[in-house]
Amino acid sequence: EIEGGLRPKSLDDYIGQEGVKERLNIYIKAAKQRKEALDHVLLYGPPGLGKTTLAHIIANEMNGNIRITSGPAIERPGDLAAILTNLSENDVFFVDEIHRLNRTVEEILYPAMEDYALDIIIGKGPSARSIRLDLPRFTLIGATTRAGLLTSPLRDRFGVISKLELYTTEELTYIVKRSASLLNVFIDEEGAMEIASRSRGTPRIANRLLKRVRDFAEVRANGRITKQVAVDALKLMEIDYLGLDHVDKKMITTIIDNFCGGPVGLDTLAASTGEEKNTIEDVYEPYLLQLGFINRTPRGRVVMEKAYRHFNIAYNKKD
Ligand code: ADE
Repeated sequence: EIEGGLRPKSLDDYIGQEGVKERLNIYIKAAKQRKEALDHVLLYGPPGLGKTTLAHIIANEMNGNIRITSGPAIERPGDLAAILTNLSENDVFFVDEIHRLNRTVEEILYPAMEDYALDIIIGKGPSARSIRLDLPRFTLIGATTRAGLLTSPLRDRFGVISKLELYTTEELTYIVKRSASLLNVFIDEEGAMEIASRSRGTPRIANRLLKRVRDFAEVRANGRITKQVAVDALKLMEIDYLGLDHVDKKMITTIIDNFCGGPVGLDTLAASTGEEKNTIEDVYEPYLLQLGFINRTPRGRVVMEKAYRHFNIAYNKKD
């Protein structure tokens, strides 16, 4: 497993996303009281915020198992039918990147979600007929970086739609301290804050930085993570004090140098930085937007004065 055992197993151990957590807690309790399956859940938001973790937790809390796949991995209707017919009551069927399901597969999913039924067509031509198979009452949990990428018939079939937000530095500090304790490495409060504040609001990044700072601490220091050890390690990793790397810097300086600070369209920006459009939108932009370094306007992306100051570039106010 990629996250290496750092994942919380219960809602109580899950830090942050307070609103999402409180609502899910109610829906789970209510479903259990009624002895029903939890309604289907759509989780959306930038990568690394804990969508898969939440799906595991929901399965645990519902006393079900989890079956994990992704939109592009389900190629044919038969692939989906094979999974659905092997589920048990209250199981979670987790589909990552659910916006990438193909249309024929997606259409099988509609009756499965709505009526717990699988419509199978037997035969061809005039004698073809469809039979309906009953499915166990399962919970589909779909994950996507942007809810707007889903077709509306699919989106409409989720009873719960939750947006995950970037975490605060305070929340990430808790997560880093919790992970350090699970990894059996000493970290002080300031060391944890240093890693947290450079993690772009993202637990997955916080845990990755923690592991690399631990490496540094074990080889270059005495194995203990203090603020100074974290600062030295992160400097070596070329991550600045806001967590920005050379790609972020290139995005900002490209807009400034080649497009007079913007506005510039996403296609143009992708072409001139050599980054994928989706990567820009899902990975780089959310944090730059949160920092107030860029702004999205109808005519494209604009670099804000704050970013000029951060990168030490003279700002000439337009108009
Ligand atoms: N590890 C990754 N995400 C987490 C979260 N939200 N809470 C606790 N530990 C985590």
